[in-house]
Amino acid sequence: MANPIIRAGMIGMGMIFDDTYRPFFERAQLEGLYRRDFGVVEVELSAVASRTGSRAEKYRKESAAKFVSFAGADATQQLLAHGVDAVCVATPDDRHFESARLALEAGKHVLIEKPSVLTLQELDTLDALARKNNVLAKVVYHKLGDPDHKKLHTHYVDGNFKHVNNGYCTLLEPKSISGSQFAEWIKGRNPGTYVAVHYIKLIDFTFGDRRPHAPREDPVTRSVTSTIWRLARITCNGQRGLVGPATGNTWDSVQLQVVYAYPDGREAAFDIHTSWVTPDNFPGYVDQEVQFRFDNGVWCAHQRKRGVEMTIEGRTPGELKITPNYHYNGTFLEPWGERSQRGYGIEIIQKFFEEVAHVEFSGKPAQRAERLNAIRALTYNDVAADRNTVAIVQAMEALLERQAQGQPGCVVEVNGPRGGLALLTPGKSEVMVLYPGHV
Ligand SMILES: NC(=O)c1ccc[n+]([C@@H]2O[C@H](COP(=O)([O-])OP(=O)(O)OC[C@H]3O[C@@H](n4cnc5c(N)ncnc54)[C@H](O)[C@@H]3O)[C@@H](O)[C@H]2O)c1
Repeated sequence: MANPIIRAGMIGMGMIFDDTYRPFFERAQLEGLYRRDFGVVEVELSAVASRTGSRAEKYRKESAAKFVSFAGADATQQLLAHGVDAVCVATPDDRHFESARLALEAGKHVLIEKPSVLTLQELDTLDALARKNNVLAKVVYHKLGDPDHKKLHTHYVDGNFKHVNNGYCTLLEPKSISGSQFAEWIKGRNPGTYVAVHYIKLIDFTFGDRRPHAPREDPVTRSVTSTIWRLARITCNGQRGLVGPATGNTWDSVQLQVVYAYPDGREAAFDIHTSWVTPDNFPGYVDQEVQFRFDNGVWCAHQRKRGVEMTIEGRTPGELKITPNYHYNGTFLEPWGERSQRGYGIEIIQKFFEEVAHVEFSGKPAQRAERLNAIRALTYNDVAADRNTVAIVQAMEALLERQAQGQPGCVVEVNGPRGGLALLTPGKSEVMVLYPGHV
């Protein structure tokens, strides 16, 4: 009997396809996907959709992949009509919603690049469609798979770090991202939505109320602490003048502050600084650093300076980087002679396909609903658990828009008397409700 198969559709064939999806599909095509619960499942890249189709054609020529390529305005509809089972959406972030909506409406499992969507209204639509059509709607947040972040989460869940109070994160992208890579869609965009979202999710997931045993009793002090916090307010500032005009709405760098409130009146605040105008000859591809402070400890981590520092005359730091992050994604000659590409950026894509395989092929069809619900309950990647992250992105975009209109210093209040997301302007009584429902 032939192995069951997942036919994958890929929407968007840009940089992230090359970095993470392509190596996953190529390995899956060679080796299949195997787990004891679902056995061997074939994963085939069946169809791709993009704006012009040129990168798809280039990839087809240089690979053994046998996919159909659709290009142009209705490429997504054509891909869906071609017949696929799961769809990956890796288009620019302000175009995720439309492709994901169409795919979910067509009853396909969907994986969306971060940030899932830009408003809670869009998120509600996707979540409702996924539920109605009994499919998965998931988001890629690969930083949750970084071994250092997994260990941070483990320490927090195990109670080694107690009660987070504040922290900072920074992620600086090279100028080539804003200057050439995204030149086509950079207008009106900002680096916060593009990369702060990694850390927004990391904070929300790692320190959110997901401890299996919360509230917990401290074995030493016997005090009981509840980890249930709620998102309280969001502020941000941005700078312009390099990627676009100094008075426009295209941003060079963004500083975001997010505040959570605990039931006992204490608060936790996090600053996330991002940019996409760092010089291209920076020693690492991106600069990424975090620091979190707890009642009883501090966690400092640097994603770039993990110990490797290399110099090659004439090649670093341009073509090769001085401080690389091989944990995310690296090409290797394995000790057993095989060439490979691996890292948490690729593992997280594989995990989604394992989840689809589990729902569809693991156990009896009559228990599919049970399996679907179990996978949906995974808060690390389900759209239903992406509410706080999307709320923060929606608030940040509205705050930057206000700043571009000459009203800096606004604040978005969360789940207050005026609605789920209410934008308040200093010195004015007027309130702009971004999302009326509960976040
Ligand atoms: N996980 C990560 O670390 C990571 C890194 C980079 C990018 N991303 C995310 O991946 C997404 C894509 O980023 P990228 O760097 O690959 O961008 P890119 O500009 O290199 O590629 C975008 C692709 O989308 C296609 N496209 C654009 N509009 C389309 C439409 N309406 N229908 C179909 N295809 C369309 C383009 O033709 C192109 O193939 C973004 O959401 C970004 O945030 C994630």
